Amino acid sequence: MLTLAMIAQKGGTGKTTLALSLAVTAEAAGQSVLVIDLDPQASACKWGDRRARDAPTVMDAQPARLAAALVKAEQAGVDIAIVDTPARVEQAAAEAAKAADLVLIPCKPSILDLETLRATAELLHGRARRPPLVILNAVPAQGTRHEQAAEAIAAMGFTVCTAQIGQRVAFEYAAQAGLTVTEYEPEGRAASDIRQLYVTICQIVDMQIKEMAR
Ligand SMILES: Nc1ncnc2c1ncn2[C@@H]1O[C@H](COP(=O)(O)OP(=O)(O)OP(=O)(O)O)[C@@H](O)[C@H]1O
Ligand SMILES: [Mg+2]
Repeated sequence: MLTLAMIAQKGGTGKTTLALSLAVTAEAAGQSVLVIDLDPQASACKWGDRRARDAPTVMDAQPARLAAALVKAEQAGVDIAIVDTPARVEQAAAEAAKAADLVLIPCKPSILDLETLRATAELLHGRARRPPLVILNAVPAQGTRHEQAAEAIAAMGFTVCTAQIGQRVAFEYAAQAGLTVTEYEPEGRAASDIRQLYVTICQIVDMQIKEMAR
């Protein structure tokens, strides 16, 4: 089982949005997916409640119960577990980082998000098994701010994902309907960004697995 964790100490960077979008895309690609919501605000679970379809399964868990929940998920045949964490709650992020094969850090190309990346890096230090991947999210269609942001993030020592997610209202509309953008507007740009992100993450994980086998 592959375990991904969405972590960012800053609120509102897109952790839940990308967790759910990746979960639905992975299901559509034939994977059995479980989303584990560690956020007391339960945004991912509430999305699951609004949703008409059963898959992907969304469950909540206490951070201290995450490891046990992941063992059960693997025994039940889950292929990919995606752990969504709250901002500013160290224990949840720490447990998710320890359990994850790969930590994904959504980050908007704004100074406020960039400034909190250091806090996220400190929290992950010594906990994450592999170098985390920063995903630039809500990138405006106009301007080059995201390029400057990507440079600044790389200069902090992070790996920046080559797939970026544009700023699109479809994310908001889809979430309200208990959907993700690939379902709400399959031919839209947001959906295409998410599919590209999923493919890129699969490639990174495959590459890392091969490197470990060497
Ligand atoms: N690429 C995007 N384009 C437009 N809006 C987006 C995008 N990504 C996320 N959003 C919106 O930004 C808001 C915050 O996103 P989300 O809830 O996923 O962040 P979060 O990191 O999980 O927040 P929290 O830290 O509170 O859990 C939501 O209203 C969501 O619809
Ligand atoms: Mg959230």
